Amino acid sequence: MSARRPVLLDCDPGIDDALAIAYLAAEHRAGRIALQGVVATAGNVGIDDTVRNALAWLDLAGAGAEVSVAAGAAGATVVPHAFTPETHGPRGAGYAALPEREEGTTARALDARSGARLWVDLARAHPGELVAVVTGPSSTLAAALDLEPALPRLLRRLVVMGGTYRGHPGNTTPVSEWNVDVDPEAADAVCLAWEAAREADPAVAPAWWCGLNLTERAVWTPERSERLLAQAASADGRLVSLARHLVDALRFYFEFHDSVGEGYLAQVHDPLVAWLALHSEAAVTEPVHLRVECAGEHTRGMTVEDRRGHRGRAANAHLVVDLSVPGGPDAVLDEVMAALADPG
Ligand code: RIB
Ligand code: CA
Repeated sequence: MSARRPVLLDCDPGIDDALAIAYLAAEHRAGRIALQGVVATAGNVGIDDTVRNALAWLDLAGAGAEVSVAAGAAGATVVPHAFTPETHGPRGAGYAALPEREEGTTARALDARSGARLWVDLARAHPGELVAVVTGPSSTLAAALDLEPALPRLLRRLVVMGGTYRGHPGNTTPVSEWNVDVDPEAADAVCLAWEAAREADPAVAPAWWCGLNLTERAVWTPERSERLLAQAASADGRLVSLARHLVDALRFYFEFHDSVGEGYLAQVHDPLVAWLALHSEAAVTEPVHLRVECAGEHTRGMTVEDRRGHRGRAANAHLVVDLSVPGGPDAVLDEVMAALADPG
């Protein structure tokens, strides 16, 4: 990874999004990336809460006010937005009581630009350099593509947590993953935009899609939460506060996973994807032509990969099918935790 790579995160915090925010903020504080912007998109909870949470998690993670935060899409592109507070808690932060912010009392203010505008401005400001990570619905990205159809060409890489592949079951319907399921039209617009961009210019990098078949392997356990608290106890006060809030949030996520039969643990998709965006060498990818089913009664939200060229289209996506990391996703979560403890 090059030094100070500019990075944009579009997220819907969200408990595992909080880990992605904290991780990227830590990498930014340590000077290994330049986290240029965070876009909060409506997701499992509404836009007011995802914005509130993005701001609060960035404050807790010690990110400077130079990290712009903008409000993205307030809902899905075509259909009414389905909120799911049972997954991440009524306000998207589980049991964590995030510090309430009063306007004007902290250095970080919400950017006046829309999330879509921030996408476009950052991509234009860093042509060919910006690494963009999406860990929520693609609604804001779809709006950004309307503003700037050349966005795929302007980015260095797009990395999306979205979909499920290779027959791995969905977590929302039998065939769909939540980020895609909540706004399939937006996810499909992303696929079509990358298809058009790559047809016009094969040098455009295919978008990377990380599905449940990969991300469900990133499992945060109660024992890891204990380790995070122990690590914080021997570090500075900032980490203590961040760790306590994360652990409170994760406890809710453990209960949710337990309630759906996964056990008392949490699948933390988003920090794995954020880590992969910074460690491209660790991704095992396969080129495919990807579309999202938007119509099927039983298949809406399904990510449909063409591996054999049935559609006669060039690859618009790289599926991240595995990690070439000794120790696998668990070792990645160790690295995420180590980054959080880095005083920067
Ligand atoms: O399906 C997993 C995705 O939806 C993750 O981004 C997670 O935050 C969840 O709500
Ligand atoms: Ca998310």
